[in-house]
Amino acid sequence: MSSKRHEIVEKNVGLFAILMVLAISIGGLVEITPLMFQKQTTEPVANLRPYTALEMEGRDIYIREGCNVCHSQMVRPFRAETERYGHYSVAGESVWEHPFLWGSKRTGPDLARVGGRYSDEWHRVHLINPRDVVPQSNMPGFPWLDENILDGELTAKKLTIFKDNFGVPYTDEQIANAKSNVVGKTEMQALIAYLQSLGHAMK
Ligand code: HEC
Repeated sequence: MSSKRHEIVEKNVGLFAILMVLAISIGGLVEITPLMFQKQTTEPVANLRPYTALEMEGRDIYIREGCNVCHSQMVRPFRAETERYGHYSVAGESVWEHPFLWGSKRTGPDLARVGGRYSDEWHRVHLINPRDVVPQSNMPGFPWLDENILDGELTAKKLTIFKDNFGVPYTDEQIANAKSNVVGKTEMQALIAYLQSLGHAMK
């Protein structure tokens, strides 16, 4: 009897497809739904602070220049990675990340914990021409970042959007000072400030 029922399913592609989708959907929901309510995945880790105005601009430059196309920001829980980069990434570090920049393309090293590893000046030289500090590097140079000056016109708006839509706890004071904190700075300074902030909460 039961082998007969199985035969019906096996010989009927449409029915088989529907049952497959159903099985995968239920399996997916069972795995994903609890994550939306777990403290561990929805609440910030203890030392997490929102990006400063300058770091926020730096993050946008990071996305604009496609740094995330070659660099992931997710230390996986493998010995080879934790020994090289530090503690593996946890969800609570990323609750205020929009969009996520975890990535999976690892042409260059993972950058999730790069903050504090090099001096600002090292980053500046490296970003202008990587081969000046890492002779065998095939990372492109980004010399224009040192010339482009930020006007800060949109910075306050960006912080406001993160506050209102994503619940990032920016104070009114931080938003009011956003423009004056970035205006006149170079894109290079903003990007380096962002890089130096990466991984701060788990150090
Ligand atoms: C075409 C791929 C590629 C792109 C795009 C790229 N990188 Fe890299 N990056 C690399 C490679 C490869 C290395 C390793 C060699 C080196 O240190 O230069 C590297 C190294 C680095 C390092 C040193 C990391 C460490 O732990 O030693 C930093 C920081 C970095 N990149 C930042 C950036 C930033 C910021 C951008 C965007 C402005 C960027 N990269 C764009 C490929 C890339």
